[in-house]
Amino acid sequence: MSYKSDMEAVAAKMVAGGKGILAADESSPTLTKRFEALGLQSTFETRRDWREMLFSTPDLSNWISGTILFDETFRQQTSQGVSIPDYLKSLDILTGIKVDTGAKPLPSRPNETITEGLDGLSQRLAEYRSLGATFAKWRAVIKIEGEDLPSRTAVLTNAHALARYAKLCQSEGIVPIVEPEVLMDGLHSLERSFEVTSAVLHEVFCELWDQEVAYNQMVLKPSMVISGKGAADRATPQEVASASVECYKNHVPASVAGIALLSGGQSDVEATEHLRLMNELGPLPWPLTFSYGRALQDPAMAAWAKETGNLELAQSQLAGRASANFAAANTR
Ligand code: 13P
Repeated sequence: MSYKSDMEAVAAKMVAGGKGILAADESSPTLTKRFEALGLQSTFETRRDWREMLFSTPDLSNWISGTILFDETFRQQTSQGVSIPDYLKSLDILTGIKVDTGAKPLPSRPNETITEGLDGLSQRLAEYRSLGATFAKWRAVIKIEGEDLPSRTAVLTNAHALARYAKLCQSEGIVPIVEPEVLMDGLHSLERSFEVTSAVLHEVFCELWDQEVAYNQMVLKPSMVISGKGAADRATPQEVASASVECYKNHVPASVAGIALLSGGQSDVEATEHLRLMNELGPLPWPLTFSYGRALQDPAMAAWAKETGNLELAQSQLAGRASANFAAANTR
């Protein structure tokens, strides 16, 4: 059975009209850490209530085309007893699923990581598809440290695994989000971020090509070209936007369905501004939109911590960020 036209349509819909993707796929341990930092209790039920609150934000589908879920949420039901993927479908929001099992130390380079989760992936994808998933996500993590890191081994092994994942997704009728994240942690300059992000995207697209991944049936989720968080002289938003667009133009084929950026620890306002400035540099070869986690959810989570159960308060924060990013992605 060929899923080709379905996947083309899903990939196009994910990035159409400046809509973006809500990354709500934090693993339970990660969400627990974020909850506890704000004094919120993390249980199976409180995580469900939080996510149901996000998804039921009025008019969310005006700005958000899809949301990425963690396995726990994917199998949960709303307070009305509807499965979360069915609930999202009723809102015209596509369901995505995080399928990697996390970044683990790379045996030959213990300071670096390789993302795992390929074993049994075909079967898991087939099950997720039967339960309503139309796209998936896999995140590779690349660390910059001086001139030594990343090693070539870390870049190549992660690029290879990303392409293995992407091809398996397309064989099972699921659109892959390919996410090579170059971390913002560290002291590095914008130039070093440009150099590393360029090398990573180059290797990722070589592997995707070799493994016959269809570019128009995938979405790329890259990090921005940005100075390290601890850098003394951080680049301006305009410099970040120009360097990022130059890097993507050099390395991302025009036939890729779209680019949906990650926020990577930037503030919510900064992430929106970068997206706006990049789109101002258009016309670009691909739709350029957002797939933020923290930059969409942080203000809502702060409101939720202040008045847990006050849906309107938290939802107005999410609506504010989602609509601002939608406007930024529609900048011409
Ligand atoms: P951030 O936008 O918070 O970086 O999260 C995006 C994501 O999906 C990380 O894998």
